[in-house]
Amino acid sequence: MECIKSLRGSYAFVAINKSDDKLIACRYKSPLILGIGDGEFFVASDVPAILEYTNRVIYLEDGDFVVLTTNGYEILNSGVKVERSVEIVPWGLEAAEKSGYEHFMLKEIHEIPKVIEDTLIEYVSEDILLDVSFAAGISEITFVACGTSYHASLVGKYVLEKMADIPVRVEYASEFNYHNIPFSRTLVVGISQSGETADTLEALRLAKKRGVRTLAITNVLGSTITKIADYILYTRAGPEICVAATKTFIAQLMVLYIISAKLSPISRSELDDFVLKLKMLPEKVQKILDEEDEIRKIAEKFANYENMMYIGRGIGFPVALEGALKMKEISYIHAEGYPAGELKHGPFALLGENTPVVACVVRDNTYEIMLSNVKEVKARNSPVIAVAGEDDDEVEKYVDFVIRTPSVDPVLTPVTYSVALQLLAYYAARKRGCEIDKPRHLAKSVTVE
Ligand code: G6P
Repeated sequence: MECIKSLRGSYAFVAINKSDDKLIACRYKSPLILGIGDGEFFVASDVPAILEYTNRVIYLEDGDFVVLTTNGYEILNSGVKVERSVEIVPWGLEAAEKSGYEHFMLKEIHEIPKVIEDTLIEYVSEDILLDVSFAAGISEITFVACGTSYHASLVGKYVLEKMADIPVRVEYASEFNYHNIPFSRTLVVGISQSGETADTLEALRLAKKRGVRTLAITNVLGSTITKIADYILYTRAGPEICVAATKTFIAQLMVLYIISAKLSPISRSELDDFVLKLKMLPEKVQKILDEEDEIRKIAEKFANYENMMYIGRGIGFPVALEGALKMKEISYIHAEGYPAGELKHGPFALLGENTPVVACVVRDNTYEIMLSNVKEVKARNSPVIAVAGEDDDEVEKYVDFVIRTPSVDPVLTPVTYSVALQLLAYYAARKRGCEIDKPRHLAKSVTVE
């Protein structure tokens, strides 16, 4: 305990004293949990690591110092004994197993229809059950997030602005500190699958310090973000083992759709209509999964390229960003997401027969101009793969391949298109023989700033 006083920064570690069979575990700003088994204890940074042995967990808090012996455990904080409640993790063991799939990533993509259903069961029945008191009196929303959660936030911006007419900013959590954001009547929303991403936690702490209301959207019960934010909404994706986020991204989108619908001034019948469209998403996604072999064939054709560009407009733009992120993180193909209209301001110079372009073509007010952009790309000899709705019989005239997805309301295309792009990345990475579930140099929870 003496040596802890001289530690600086964030840490979570375990120390063993062999001579007296004592194990010490402590944390500060890094995740650490204590699993309570049958006559045995576990210390880990994340629940899936110990699910095989127990689902009874204590989420340790900053400054907690656990002393474990064969007789039991004691938790101290600042030298004083404290009690921490034992939580029951609602995840079964099968959630942490591959269940016959070659990779966790593929299994987790295949769980998406169920994840959508579970999120809807949680927040929607005849009506939207979500309590939106976190938004009472606010005039704008700022999202802070990293990685895939940042892209979910960008989709949230489009949807909230369109449906609820609330101005929304989206900040990389790691940059939030450097911006002078006017805070009056702002709701700061931190989105984090793990609830442990250091940059997102720091951004929320900063917002709180400035007296701003905060909401966390996370997939992990009891994670650090839930201890910081004023309000918490859980996504119901179950544990995600693959480093690259797939089902948790879709679960985040679902929560954002539900918030947007609840805050929207639309009429009762329009709301019913929207809820119905949400409820049809599991079967739409299932159709993509049933036909994944078509995506595999396209992915394998493109697996040998070293550079790719992903483009989109409007709500298709964050879809392009997320598609490119998926591709680069698991296949190591250099993939860039760009707003389609920005290509002419530089990236055109990179186009050519060695740079395929994935175009996310949404049938909304961006459609015509997006087709023009696709033609511009083709004119520069890049092979083009379009992701489009099954009712789009125009786009195939201008591209080399079309990944067809079931038709949905344009505002919901981030769900269907992203599942298709997750599969595209997966099969390209598989063809390249990559370590799909644990890509090099990456971590599932990034607990350093
Ligand atoms: C890491 C993961 C990404 C994830 C990002 C943000 O970089 O590899 O998949 O999107 O962290 O994680 P979070 O848990 O905050 O959503």
